[in-house]
Amino acid sequence: MTRTKDQLRSREWFANSEDPGMTALYLERYLNYGLTREELQSGKPIIGIAQTGSDLSPCNRHHIELAARVRDGIREMGGIPLEFPVHPIQETGRRPTAALDRNLAYLGLVEVLHGYPLDGVVLTTGCDKTTPACLMAAATANIPAIVLSGGPMLDGHWRGKLAGSGMVIWDSRRQLAAGEINEEEFLEAAASSAPSVGHCNTMGTALSMNSVAEALGMSLPRCASIPAPYRERAQMAYLTGKRIVDMVWEDLTPSKIMTKAAFENAIAVAAACGASTNCPPHLIAIARHAGVDLTLEDWQRVGHPIPLLVNCQPAGHYLGEGFHRAGGIPAVMKELLSAGKLHGTTVTVTGKTTADFLADVEIEDTDVIRPYDKPMMLEAGFIVLSGNIFDSAVMKTSVIGPDFRKRYLSTPGDLDAFVARAIVFDGPEDYHKRINDPALNIDEHCILVIRGAGPVGYPGSAEVVNMQPPDHLIKRGITALPTLGDGRQSGTSASPSILNVSPESAVGGGLALLKTGDKIRVDLNTRKVDVQLSEAELAERRKNPASSYPAHQTPWQQIHRETVGQLSTGGCMEMATAYQHVVANGTPR
Ligand code: FES
Ligand code: MG
Repeated sequence: MTRTKDQLRSREWFANSEDPGMTALYLERYLNYGLTREELQSGKPIIGIAQTGSDLSPCNRHHIELAARVRDGIREMGGIPLEFPVHPIQETGRRPTAALDRNLAYLGLVEVLHGYPLDGVVLTTGCDKTTPACLMAAATANIPAIVLSGGPMLDGHWRGKLAGSGMVIWDSRRQLAAGEINEEEFLEAAASSAPSVGHCNTMGTALSMNSVAEALGMSLPRCASIPAPYRERAQMAYLTGKRIVDMVWEDLTPSKIMTKAAFENAIAVAAACGASTNCPPHLIAIARHAGVDLTLEDWQRVGHPIPLLVNCQPAGHYLGEGFHRAGGIPAVMKELLSAGKLHGTTVTVTGKTTADFLADVEIEDTDVIRPYDKPMMLEAGFIVLSGNIFDSAVMKTSVIGPDFRKRYLSTPGDLDAFVARAIVFDGPEDYHKRINDPALNIDEHCILVIRGAGPVGYPGSAEVVNMQPPDHLIKRGITALPTLGDGRQSGTSASPSILNVSPESAVGGGLALLKTGDKIRVDLNTRKVDVQLSEAELAERRKNPASSYPAHQTPWQQIHRETVGQLSTGGCMEMATAYQHVVANGTPR
């Protein structure tokens, strides 16, 4: 133990002999729901439970029940739990986009961790942005913190097949466009993919980011994958509550866990999982708030060479239950460690090193989690692209399917180049309005481009780059065209889009110069995307770029636009990255 009870920061509030008047004031109100003076004054760690679940956040709502078991664990180890709400972030309910709220929830949580008498915190995570928001705040505060994932829903089934959340929506949209199903069947399929409490059961952004949290060392082993309704989930809640109390005594802060090596481990695990394209910006944001230098080049360098080991939708077949039964993240990490692709020396919330806690781990189903030498695919990590219209973009190679490869990449099995005619849309409304317009003459030699969808332009950066081809192409069996955009795409999408383009059109990025009919050359070998226009023509177009965006609708939209950076650097509130370890740097006055 490295900390004594006199070193608990909550003592400043509840046992401050130099200021008995203020102590009386703080105590009086925290007693009034039944806490005793003994509990608050005898030197028990006070542990926050950052509650992200609510009726507005159904993916995380199960945490309201799980918190009871977290409390049991905290109590058993002699701590005092205080649960408080985090600003809701629901991926599917928040308009204009949930991405607008990641930084807002972050900001609110930093203030709570700094301004209230908390010695440690349990971060309840789940739906996409809740995990990065919580980890970003824990990094800024640098107060002992542990992640409790809510877990994926049970596996969905429709008409005898696995139906993964998100995936089923993208598939059904295509089937609807092709006239294979009707609207009623579409809704039935969507409902079937979500059979229980929990977050998305595909390896979408939620499961990817909880896996990344575990790979970083911020949750107990196997926490990410336990399906939400399983008994093990409530047991994990209890164990997490127990563990955070010891972490307070050990002074095991996020800065000791989330090191550069831990971030590299997280990148390797994300690649092996076929994780969401939202992971690069979220992980870079967490790193920047932790004061760790992490860039897209680290994703290319560490992530791209990693093979795809996890056979889960959208890159593979299975869903959360299968992934958990196969061994979850520890099994993936063990394969990577044995292959020399993971740092074994990183310390996790267990207090042990990664190599230590993985010692006895094995894959339990080698069809779901493949051994390192029998992967689903080689070099499955993201590739990072650049060119004459943007500085960086990301592409998920693990979802480049055989059809796409055959049509666009001349050497099957190898990454290659193609030239396509651009069809340019200004935001998703324009796309929906015009995609089936015959005048656009869209054929299989086109690339669909969307702009005005980035952090400033949208605002918040929208998941819209995985644009579906026009109905007439789908009816001919062409279910995917290349796409390019300054927005993001859902982690559940199997589209090999070129996305997260930075800088975005709204801040003068090169997408603002494009016109429908331009020829764009994509070379996946050299990782270059270039519009085939002369420098003189580009200079001419720079005089009148398509950079406008809609007016702010709320005060936060304005603050967000004024403070947010680009997706390539995490989409952080730029000014906030200057604040490091704010809790350790001093108790508020
Ligand atoms: Fe919340 Fe997928 S919509 S986890
Ligand atoms: Mg999403």
